[in-house]
Amino acid sequence: MNKIKLLENAEKLGIGKYSRHVLLCTGPSCCTEKEGLEAWEELKKQIKEQGLTSGDNACYRTKVGCLRLCESGPIATVYPEGVWYANLSKQNIEAFVKSHLVNDTPLEDLVIAKNPLPKV
Ligand code: FES
Repeated sequence: MNKIKLLENAEKLGIGKYSRHVLLCTGPSCCTEKEGLEAWEELKKQIKEQGLTSGDNACYRTKVGCLRLCESGPIATVYPEGVWYANLSKQNIEAFVKSHLVNDTPLEDLVIAKNPLPKV
């Protein structure tokens, strides 16, 4: 393990400064890979456009291969709240980012489950 390199990478990515983490599944079982990747590109764009790459509402985002629900995707989850979303398609990403990530209000129409994690 190259700890120095890892620490450099973590610093470069701003790890330690985020208040949220979005994990977005890009399929292929809950949605097609095309739908998943379109949603992913829109998520990156909206996070940047809404000023969420740094500051109090800074949000880390990760593209994942499966969140195990495998239906009606793209599936996503947002931590630390533990809010799970379905149908987080490209068309729904902007509304999701503005509502949940900017205004702290989950987009209830697309929420399918909640599993908040305890604070540490
Ligand atoms: S492939 Fe997306 S949840 Fe399983």
